Amino acid sequence: MEQVRRIGVLTGGGDCPGLNAVIRAVVKTAINDYGWEVIGIEDGFEGLILPDKTRELRISDVRGILPRGGTILGTTNRANPFAYVTRKKDGRVVTRDVSDEVILRLRDLRLDALIVIGGDGSLKISYEFFQKGVPIVGVPKTIDNDISCTDVTFGFDTALDTATQAIDKLHTTAESHHRVMIVEVMGRDAGWLALEAGLAGGADVILIPEIPFDLYNVDEKIERRDREGRRFSIVVVAEGSRPVGGEQFYQPRKDPTAPRRLGGVSQWVADELGKMCDHEIRVTVLGHVQRGGSPSSFDRILGTRFGAAAVHLVSERRFGEMVALRGETIEAVSLKDAVSQLKTVPLDSDLIRTARSLDICLG
Ligand code: F6P
Repeated sequence: MEQVRRIGVLTGGGDCPGLNAVIRAVVKTAINDYGWEVIGIEDGFEGLILPDKTRELRISDVRGILPRGGTILGTTNRANPFAYVTRKKDGRVVTRDVSDEVILRLRDLRLDALIVIGGDGSLKISYEFFQKGVPIVGVPKTIDNDISCTDVTFGFDTALDTATQAIDKLHTTAESHHRVMIVEVMGRDAGWLALEAGLAGGADVILIPEIPFDLYNVDEKIERRDREGRRFSIVVVAEGSRPVGGEQFYQPRKDPTAPRRLGGVSQWVADELGKMCDHEIRVTVLGHVQRGGSPSSFDRILGTRFGAAAVHLVSERRFGEMVALRGETIEAVSLKDAVSQLKTVPLDSDLIRTARSLDICLG
């Protein structure tokens, strides 16, 4: 069995607060505990496809990055080596499987293992590479909190705080102007961010992808509040939510090779609600603000624990596994299980039950 001497680390998919905390912990643990070399790979898997996108990471390279949002390595959600899209000079778009080239590249770089810090997409790619024999360990990140087998992903707590603060701010202006404020939050197909931010921000209506909504129920809630003398309402809408019998809302795409992006549901809700009630309605789409900023203490600590644990897993040659938070402890779970399905909000969860007990309309 070959000894580990040199490992690679990359961040893939959409960024989130806490990525730098993981990178820092990986570098420090690998060097302090094991004396390994660490190679940083830039812009996700693209750094293993294109030339000149790797660099050695020493302890001096990770100094001061703990409180910084984003990722010092850069990232992309458009470089899947199993379906790599390029545009030819004549404009033709070609999709190729370059995974074998990536494996050769890992050999050229003399990497004994690879740590991938990623969400659903990057972890699926990691599992595919693991099946092809690449010694890989995963670290789950995303503001969406939609990765299975871990109680929570890092990045979620900070995004939740950002969304909650925005809802708090919208509350005061909604109340002053007696308006209905609709806030669209991210989260893709999972309602964690909308549901928890709505609960934390005292929303009156929360619409999530797991529960298709009927706008008559939303209108009824707003009118009832009105009759009770509460002439404003806060409606939190997850970007992935949809009406009963309807589809999710996607943004128009200029580039057909780009991933489809959710968006637009809140404006639709505003337009339709506007036909039903007399209230003034305003829409706020929080967007990428939710992905930025300095990580919360929780995300810094979780990211640090994940990074150190991932290095320990490599030392034990536990490839094909992912670090996870289970209760109070960091554990290892199989990448296969983690990517087998998205973690959405269970309909029987206490979060949903609690929201209903508080008379929050869930659509
Ligand atoms: O997965 C994280 C996330 O922020 C989602 O909540 C959102 O739907 C998507 O990424 C946005 O992606 P992009 O950065 O490509 O706009």
